[in-house]
Amino acid sequence: MPQIEVFPDSDALCNHAATVFQDLANAALTQSDRFTVALSGGSTPKKMYERLVNADLDWSCIHFFWVDERCVPPEHSESNYRMAADTFLDFIDIPSSNIHRIKGELSLNDAARDYENELRSFFLNCLPVFDLILLGLGTDGHTASLFPGSTALKEKEHWAVGVRHDTPPPPLVDRVTLTFPVLSAGKNIIFLVSGRDKAKIVACAFGDPKNPLQIPVQEIISTARNISWLLDKDSAGDLSA
Ligand code: 6PG
Repeated sequence: MPQIEVFPDSDALCNHAATVFQDLANAALTQSDRFTVALSGGSTPKKMYERLVNADLDWSCIHFFWVDERCVPPEHSESNYRMAADTFLDFIDIPSSNIHRIKGELSLNDAARDYENELRSFFLNCLPVFDLILLGLGTDGHTASLFPGSTALKEKEHWAVGVRHDTPPPPLVDRVTLTFPVLSAGKNIIFLVSGRDKAKIVACAFGDPKNPLQIPVQEIISTARNISWLLDKDSAGDLSA
């Protein structure tokens, strides 16, 4: 059963998430010379990233990848890379070689192939097992850029794929996303979900029917090993005790 923690508000949720990040990184770095993280976009993840600026960490050992990226240049306001850079990456002492962004400025399939090549190079052609994957949850049950009904939900071979995205939720921008085989392999997966508008989908995620093609987050719930849900009381509002 996934671990669920409910906090009074999104500030408390994100403060705790930043502490968990620091604790996981410091624990991992007693056993390894690197800690690998895959970042999501979204308002709740963003709020947590703001709290990483003051984390007491050896950033030279921490490598950042992305769960997904919009197909825009890195300086674009919709770029998940830019969001992370503006909130904390530009303010910490981290080598640029530790930042493995998805090159949204490339064409859709070139960006996906380039990112998968980066993953293969870094993880030595083995399935990427991230130490920590941070995920958001859309009101439609998407996570990363794995949207309901998408062919990307069935991708088992590629670790990253391009996703056409021209219907809500916004932004209506094509995406590159990690696929379920990579997301489900994460050593630690943390969902960061806040706001009353997420209460229904959070309850659906855990409830019945199980329909991962229409509620993609259910695929991760049913296949991943170590998932923590950090919710605020609003997003947890429809969860039964
Ligand atoms: C993206 C994210 C996406 C996001 C969810 C939740 O690129 O937009 O990766 O999966 O995490 O849509 O976003 P909010 O927290 O803003 O609702």
